[in-house]
Parts: sequence; C-alpha cells; structure tokens
Amino acid sequence: MKTLSFNNDDEMPMIGLGTWKSQPGEVHDAVLTALKTGYRHIDCAPIYGNEAEVGQAIQQAIRDGVLKREALWVTSKLWNDAHRQADVIPALKKTLSDLQLDYLDLFLIHWPVALKQGVMFPDGPDDFLSLEEVPVSETWAGMEAAVDEGLARHIGVSNFKLERVRQLVEQARIKPEMNQVELHPHLPQERLVKGCQGIGVHLTAYSPLGSKDRSSAIKKADEPSLLEHPAIRRVAEKRNCTVGQVLISWALHRGTAVIPKSTNAGRIQENLKSVEVELSLEDMQYIGQIGPDYRFVDGSFWAMDGSPYSMADLWDR
Ligand code: A2P
Repeated sequence: MKTLSFNNDDEMPMIGLGTWKSQPGEVHDAVLTALKTGYRHIDCAPIYGNEAEVGQAIQQAIRDGVLKREALWVTSKLWNDAHRQADVIPALKKTLSDLQLDYLDLFLIHWPVALKQGVMFPDGPDDFLSLEEVPVSETWAGMEAAVDEGLARHIGVSNFKLERVRQLVEQARIKPEMNQVELHPHLPQERLVKGCQGIGVHLTAYSPLGSKDRSSAIKKADEPSLLEHPAIRRVAEKRNCTVGQVLISWALHRGTAVIPKSTNAGRIQENLKSVEVELSLEDMQYIGQIGPDYRFVDGSFWAMDGSPYSMADLWDR
C-alpha cells in the first residue's frame, strides 16, 4: 500500500475505510472485512455514531490474528461541542474508550465551528459559540495536550481553508500534519492542496465518490453524479477498471490520502484495488477539468440565520 510519511517517520496508508454513514449493524462487518482484505487505515468520528461498533470490529480482528494494533492507522475527530481546551481530552478519552484503543494515530478538529457542550447539531443560533469565544488556538492547545499525554500520535484539522491552516501552522507548538477536506474531480481545490502540501500539511480526500448515501436533509436534487460522469466512465473503460477505482486512483495520484466509504464486501475490496490503477498525466488532466466545482458537503448547516459562522468564513473563494 502507498503511504504518506509523517515527521517522525510514521507512515499512513493512503487508502482508508471511511465510516461516515455506515449504519450500526453494518459497520462491524465492513471494518472486519476491510481489515481482512488488507486495509490498514480506518477513518472514524464520534459524530458518525458508530465508534463503539468500529472498536468491536478492530478488537475482533486483533483477537483473530488478522493484524496487530501497531500495524493499523486509526483517525478520529473532535466534535464541535468540545472545543474548549478543558473539553478536548475528555472527548478524546470517550472516543478511545469506544474504539477500545490506548491512542489514536491521528486526531483532527472536525470543523472550525464551535457548539455549546452537548449540542450535536444546532437547533438555533443560541447553540453556537463564536470563534471569538473559543478561538481555534484554544482548541489547538487541547489537541497538543493530547500528543503530550500520548493519546494521539499526530494531530490535524478537517474542513479548514488555506488561510486558517497557515495561521495555525505559524502559531502552533505542535504543527498540524493533516487537513481532511472534500476532494474529488468536481472539487479539486488545487490551491488548497498545493498550499497545504507546500507547508508540510498532508491532505485526506473525503467524499471521493460523491457521498450519494447522504441523508436527504443535506442532499440537493440536482447535484452532479461522479459515479455516472461520462468522462470518468471513459477513463474507466480505457484503464479497464471501475469508475470508483478511477476516482480513488485520481486522489492517490495527487498525493492525497483517500477514504472511500463502503459497507459492501465487494466494493470494499474493489476500492482497495484502486492502488493498482495507473493513470497517465493526460488522464489526470482530463479528469481534473470536468468542472464545474461542486461541494457536496457545503457546511450550510453552520451558517443558519443568526449563526456567528458564514459560508465565507468556512471556505476559500
Ligand atoms: P456502499 O456502502 O453500499 O458500497 P463516499 O465515500 O464518497 O462517501 O461515497 C460512499 C457511497 O458510495 C456509498 O453510497 C457507497 O455505497 C458507494 N460506493 C462505495 N464504493 C463504491 C464503488 N466502488 N462503486 C460505486 N459505489 C460505491
């Protein structure tokens, strides 16, 4: 498996199993199948509501002799309601307890958005805390403490625009090493990718297949389909592979990690095999220009009327 190298020589396998939207009752088998198939990277978050089941599958795989803990890369994230410095380690400990792990390989701030403690999703503007009330620097001090205490080997962010990443890199005692963001041919985000890579921050591509299994509440009727896009189909035919594999291979060829979600055993295997798909520079350019830009997870749920957050705060223009 191709890997990304970290400052202390740790290696992160570039294909990980995504677990967002993986239903309780399904995610256990998905993770176990993935580990048996050869995945060594699982991407999790407490807000996905399934970490305890993911943890049971990891433990079963270790018990069955499929792998040792040290051979596995586990990423999880800090939810928005635990951005106060004192809340970071307790939230991480809950995740570790659910995952049945002593440490995370990578711990990310899930969004640059703070909510009051106990609020999973905001009902109204009163549920938010502004970044003046809880600055990212305060949350980051909690993330650094997680490294100091040996609870996380690496720390980073998710859904951060370039300016925010730069600011954090300049100010941090322990530098962020990852920004996990939405990346696919309808949202290549060249400037963000190059900008992060240029300052030593790796990227992980989420929603690489277009996340068509999102709930209808955060899905638009007229959104484009990556999996049915004729240009990507054409490359798949040329390379004698599936459309999903082209999308995953495209992410790998850009030097980003990628976390396709599947709970289907056949597709879990198919996605890992994307590492064998070679794309030429011409294929890469052809895929990268399909346009127009489209963001499937646009974060508009944080920018409700009266919220201290706006879409312009969230994303690079
Ligand atoms: P399933 O879990 O039934 O395999 P994303 O990773 O962008 O969030 O996309 C996940 C969606 O894509 C899920 O609906 C998942 O369904 C589906 N999916 C995963 N792998 C493939 C694949 N290789 N081909 C087509 N669809 C896939």
